Amino acid sequence: MRKVVPPKLVWKYIGDESSEKRKESEERVRQVYDRIFTAARENMRQRKHQEIGKIKGSNMKMKNKFAVVTGSSTGIGQAIAIELAKKGAFIALAGRTQDKLLKTKSLITENGGQAEVFLGDFTKLDSLEALIALIKQKTDKVDVLVNVAGIWHGEDEVYAGKDFESFPKQVILDTYAVGLTAPTLLAHAFIPLMPKGGRIINISGTFENGAKGWLPYFVSKKGIEDLTIGLAEELKDKGILVNAISPSDTATDAYKKYFPQYIGEVIDPKEIGKYAVYLCSEEANDITGKVFVLKKGKEPYEGYHT
Ligand SMILES: NC(=O)c1ccc[n+]([C@@H]2O[C@H](COP(=O)([O-])OP(=O)(O)OC[C@H]3O[C@@H](n4cnc5c(N)ncnc54)[C@H](OP(=O)(O)O)[C@@H]3O)[C@@H](O)[C@H]2O)c1
Repeated sequence: MRKVVPPKLVWKYIGDESSEKRKESEERVRQVYDRIFTAARENMRQRKHQEIGKIKGSNMKMKNKFAVVTGSSTGIGQAIAIELAKKGAFIALAGRTQDKLLKTKSLITENGGQAEVFLGDFTKLDSLEALIALIKQKTDKVDVLVNVAGIWHGEDEVYAGKDFESFPKQVILDTYAVGLTAPTLLAHAFIPLMPKGGRIINISGTFENGAKGWLPYFVSKKGIEDLTIGLAEELKDKGILVNAISPSDTATDAYKKYFPQYIGEVIDPKEIGKYAVYLCSEEANDITGKVFVLKKGKEPYEGYHT
C-alpha cells in the first residue's frame, strides 16, 4: 500500500512554513491515505465475504440433492452417507437394522446434516418394495443412488476360504439378492425420478478371477460391475452417470473383526466416502461406465484388484 502514497506530494512541502500551502498539502495527503485505507478495508471485507462464500459453496454443493445410500448402517455405506451429507445432500439411509441406521442418522444430524431412516430387508422382495414405496412417498426426485449393501459375512462367520459346495443355499441366494438383485431393482425404481446429471454408484470389490472361498460374493460383485457398465450405456441419453467403486480391503468394523492381522495395510472407509462425493461432483460430469479400484497408498485406477 505504501507504494501508492504519492511521496512527492509529502516531500514537496516539507519544511514549507507557509501554513496555507502546508495545510493544503497535509489535507491532500490525508485524503489520499483515507482513500487508500477505505479501499483496502472494502477489499478485505469483500475477500472475506468471498472466502466464506467459497467454503460454504463447496460444502453445500449437494444442497437440495436427495441421495439414497443402502448399507448405510455400518462401514463403507455409513462413511459414504456421512460424506455426502457433509456436502449438503439429504440422505435416505436404507437398510435392515434400525438401531444402527439411527446411529448413522445421529452422526449426520449432529454435524448439521439431514437424513431419514428407511427400513427394508433386501433378501425379501416385498420388504424391498415397501422401502422403495416409503422413499417415493418422501421424495419425487432422487439425485443419487449408492448401492453399498452386500454380503461377505454372516453374524459370526466370514464367507472366505469355504468350499463352494459347503455354502448354505440360503447364503448363496441372499448374497445374490442383496448384492445384485436389490441394486438392479433400486435402480429400476429410482431412474424415473432421476434428473439429468443424476448418479448411480455401485460398490463392488473383488479380483478379476475371484478367489477361492468367495464364490457367491465374487459372482454378485462381477454382476454389479456388469450392471454398472450396462446401465451406464442404457442411461447415456438421459444424462445419468453410472460408475462403480471397487474398494480394496477396507477398515470397517466387520473387516476388523475378521481380518485384524491386516488392519495396518487397509484403506479407511472415509476415503471411499470422499471418492463417492467426487463421482457426484461436477468434476466427474463426463465419467460413466467405469469401475475404480481404491487401494491404500495408490491413486484410484480402473479395473480389478491386483
Ligand atoms: N470392508 C471391505 O474390505 C470391503 C472391500 C470391498 C468391498 N466391500 C463391500 O462394501 C460393502 C460394505 O461392506 P462393509 O465392510 O462396510 O460391511 P458391513 O459393515 O457388513 O456392511 C454391509 C451392509 O450391508 C447391509 N445388509 C446386509 N444384508 C442386508 C439385507 N438383507 N438387507 C439390507 N441390507 C443388508 C448391512 O446392513 P445391516 O447392518 O442392517 O445388516 C450393512 O449395512 C459390501 O458390499 C462389501 O462387499 C467391502
